[in-house]
Parts: sequence; C-alpha cells; structure tokens
Amino acid sequence: MSRRIERRRARKGPAASPAETSLIEGIQDMELGAERQLIPFSSESCIEPKRTLDLFNEVLKDILQSPTLHDHVQEVKRALYNRDYMAAFDTDNKRFAYVSRWTPARALSYSSLFASFQAIKRLLADKDQKRKVLCVGGGAASELVGIASLFCRLKEFNPNSDSQLDVTIVDIANWSTVVTHFTSYIKSHWIYKPEKLNTTFIEGDILDSKVISNEGFDVDFITLLFTTNELFCAKRSETIKFLQRLNTNCKKGAYLLIAESAGSYSHITVGTKKFPVQFLVDTILVGKPNDDNGAWEIVDSSESCWYRINEKEVSYPMKLENMRFFFRLYRKR
Ligand SMILES: C[S@@+](CC[C@H](N)C(=O)[O-])C[C@H]1O[C@@H](n2cnc3c(N)ncnc32)[C@H](O)[C@@H]1O
Repeated sequence: MSRRIERRRARKGPAASPAETSLIEGIQDMELGAERQLIPFSSESCIEPKRTLDLFNEVLKDILQSPTLHDHVQEVKRALYNRDYMAAFDTDNKRFAYVSRWTPARALSYSSLFASFQAIKRLLADKDQKRKVLCVGGGAASELVGIASLFCRLKEFNPNSDSQLDVTIVDIANWSTVVTHFTSYIKSHWIYKPEKLNTTFIEGDILDSKVISNEGFDVDFITLLFTTNELFCAKRSETIKFLQRLNTNCKKGAYLLIAESAGSYSHITVGTKKFPVQFLVDTILVGKPNDDNGAWEIVDSSESCWYRINEKEVSYPMKLENMRFFFRLYRKR
C-alpha cells in the first residue's frame, strides 16, 4: 500500500464509509496504474496457475492429442493475421484449436489482471452480493476462466455464503460447446456449491441492438478484451453506437475493462489519420481531455504492460504466449 494511502487511512481511521473506501481504492488503483508495467504471474487471490492449466489439460484432453490440431491452429493464425475474424472462428475445429493454443495464457493473465484491481476484488469478495458480469467477445472462455478463478478462490473463505456470480458471455461465433465444457469443469472442481456460479452464452453480434437489451447492460462488470479493435474494423459507426449504449444503460458504479494489443496493431484510421483505439474509446466514454464530463471515469490504466509466463512453474503441451497490452478500467459515474 502506498504511503499516501496509509497516511490517509491513518487520518481517517479504520472505519471509512463505502464512498471513502471506493475513493481510496480508486486512488490506490491509479497509483498502481502509473507504475503498472508488469502484471504478476500469479496472485494469492486466484486459483494457482498450475491448477488452472489442469483445467485446460482435462477439458481439452482429446483435442490436445489430435493429429490435426496443428493444422487447425495454422488456419486460425492465418485468418487472424489477415484480420478475417469471421473465418478464424467459423468451425468447432478452429474454435477448439484457438482455445487450446491461446486461451490458457490469456486466462492466466486475466485472472492475475482482475485480481490486481482492488475494486473488482472487493466486488467479488462481498459475501452477501450476487454479482453479474458481461463478457463481450468472450466466447473463447479466457475471461470466464479468469473471473471464475478469482471468484472461486475468494469464495473459499465463505463457501456457504449468499454470494453468487452470474457470467453472461456474448459472442458472434458459436462458442457454446466451449463455454459449457469449461463451466462444468469449474462447477465440479473449483467451487463448493456449484449453483453459486452460473454462465449464459449468447450467440450474436453485440453491435446489433436486439442481441442485448438495455436491461442486459445492468451488470456490475463488463469486459471487452481483445475485441474492441475487431468491432471497429468491422463496423465503426455501430461500434461507436454500442459504446454510447454503455454510456446510457450501465448503472452508476459499474466497471468496464477494455484491453487490446499495445502498439500500432490497435490503431484505427479516421480520415487520413491513424489513432490508437484507446483515444477513440476514451473520447466516447470519458469525454474530451480536461472536460471531465463523460459517462465514465478511468480508475486504472496502462499504456503498455506485460504478462509473462513463469515457465519454471508451469508446463503445457502448447506454447504459452507472453502478452503485452494496454488496458483501461472505467467506472460509471
Ligand atoms: C481476438 S478474439 C478475443 C477473444 C477473447 N476475448 C480473449 O481475449 O481471449 C475476439 C472475439 O470477439 C468476437 N467478436 C468479434 N466481433 C464480434 C461482435 N460483433 N459481437 C460479438 N462478438 C464478436 C470473436 O468471435 C472472438 O471470439
């Protein structure tokens, strides 16, 4: 904890009001964010990386042994390289190849990232609350495993409490088999009362306003991880409208996390100029710099941070990629 927060806590005494606690945590997150360049490999608030990889080894047992897996991985790689996102995920073979190759490292990094936000930890640690999370573009289950890893570890302290996590995943590709398999493993291995963690998969285009009703955005935490760029590339004005729907329909105090590759891969061309995608998103969500009048405020961010796999601690039959990305954690005003 920073000295500034310690001093603040000492001045205020231990019994801070919820509003004060939230403010202090916001400052704490921002202070961490300023120096945030490395997401730790693991967190004591999450299921251990080795146990997380056990999940992948078990759920994907047959696929990891399949002689055609490598070919399907190459097909996905080619499609992603060509930014042909629809072709990348249009068959179960390709979807399971993606999940085998890329989801494990992403799930590890997302659990550690989520756990590093005091605000998200506090949200899930409350033993009396039922929380709702919406993962946009989360069909490949990285976000599901990441958030479940945090919730299930925190739930170990109060296994019989009322707290509950409902995760809704919306994705344009049909990842329902993947989500069902991962959900059932998590329910049977990671949580004492399986009914306390539930998932719903919705196959649909998030840019189509009929797919999620306005009430569907009434959740505590929304994730948009490695998906925003794809949305902007596919349909720019609809993506702007989607972000504006978040401005209108999310409730006060809700959190929104956006992450994308750091660097020029995430630049969007508007007219003749190229902008980092986060500039456009910040302008829509937070408003113009210094105006301070947007629907959301940034509580934590990094322009470029690394998540690195500790290869001494874990092994997995396929490559576990290190990740470099930018992120923003927003809170609805
Ligand atoms: C690059 S993948 C990222 C997957 C995952 N979020 C992660 O970080 O591992 C992008 C995901 O967004 C989904 N997607 C793309 N366009 C979408 C849209 N219009 N509506 C919903 N999902 C979409 C894709 O099907 C894919 O699952």
